[in-house]
Amino acid sequence: MTDLLPFQPSASAPCRVVLLGGNGLLGGAFRRAWAAEERFALTEFTRAELNLTRPEQIQSALDRTEFDVLINAAAYTQVDDAEVQPDLAMAVNAQAAGILAEICTARGARMVHFSTDYVFDGRQAQPYVETDGVQPVSAYGRSKWEGEQRVAAVSPQHLILRLAWLFGPARDAFPEWVLQQACRHAEVRVVSDKTGSPTCSLDVPGWVEALLTVPEASGVIHLVNGPECTWQEYAQGVLDAAAGLGWPLRATWATPVPLSSLPGLTAQRPVQSALNTEKFTRLTGLQPRPWPAAMADHLALKAIPG
Ligand SMILES: NC(=O)c1ccc[n+]([C@@H]2O[C@H](COP(=O)([O-])OP(=O)(O)OC[C@H]3O[C@@H](n4cnc5c(N)ncnc54)[C@H](OP(=O)(O)O)[C@@H]3O)[C@@H](O)[C@H]2O)c1
Repeated sequence: MTDLLPFQPSASAPCRVVLLGGNGLLGGAFRRAWAAEERFALTEFTRAELNLTRPEQIQSALDRTEFDVLINAAAYTQVDDAEVQPDLAMAVNAQAAGILAEICTARGARMVHFSTDYVFDGRQAQPYVETDGVQPVSAYGRSKWEGEQRVAAVSPQHLILRLAWLFGPARDAFPEWVLQQACRHAEVRVVSDKTGSPTCSLDVPGWVEALLTVPEASGVIHLVNGPECTWQEYAQGVLDAAAGLGWPLRATWATPVPLSSLPGLTAQRPVQSALNTEKFTRLTGLQPRPWPAAMADHLALKAIPG
């Protein structure tokens, strides 16, 4: 196995990065942070140019490209749809991830692959660490866990970064749903018995850059803002940040309701999937900022409705 050198940030020898999934919530944050950054030379492949369900397209696109790092922010992310399309979820999240890992290893490049808190079953009371037992309870979670294993089996030097409850400017997510409800209705009802770790996509590229400079950083690492909170507390944080920025909210309070009252969820979800980030801090010396501070920055990028 070739030892991959740590990335040394330098404008004279930029790190050549391939980005997959640049139109997504997470990939959009890498595009935003690195596209105009001298320390990186970014090459993007959209789904139209490199479809992860087509192994020959993956191979031929990457054969034509020189790169040091591959950021795989592309994934099948529809948690409920995956229950009826498990083979497609597996093809994109697991089989393609394994192929990408093999190509990266053959090229002496580092792969940065992303996974999820949904690899856990949610039965543990305290936030999960990287070595805690994995037991996905959904087809999406199983496909992501299989992807982790395939990447790790190819090379222990690739990074497998577990995120959770992602929000950011590139695509609407939970905060946008909360704001839409709160601007239209006098009450926003949000589940208060499901716990996790909100994560701002804007923070992820900086964390990844820090990890790439640390030679011993490899394998599974948890990357979230934290601290852990319930969906209701998360929604309340969105409302508080929006109120502070002068949003015209009809509802300023997120009313707690039980998970059992929520209709229409096909897939089972872990009820407690907060992630512990001490490994990341040990490796980099960095402490992810609390999610309410990141939420304020995220909402400050939005136009306040008139
Ligand atoms: N969102 C969360 O709350 C969350 C939580 C934990 C972990 N994660 C992980 O974070 C990563 C990024 O998630 P995200 O929320 O940014 O996802 P997203 O917004 O749904 O974006 C996914 C990206 O993957 C691309 N894609 C999907 N199928 C593809 C295919 N067959 N071939 C090529 N590209 C394909 C999409 O292309 P199009 O632009 O054409 O649609 C899109 O650009 C994933 O690994 C996910 O598991 C996300």
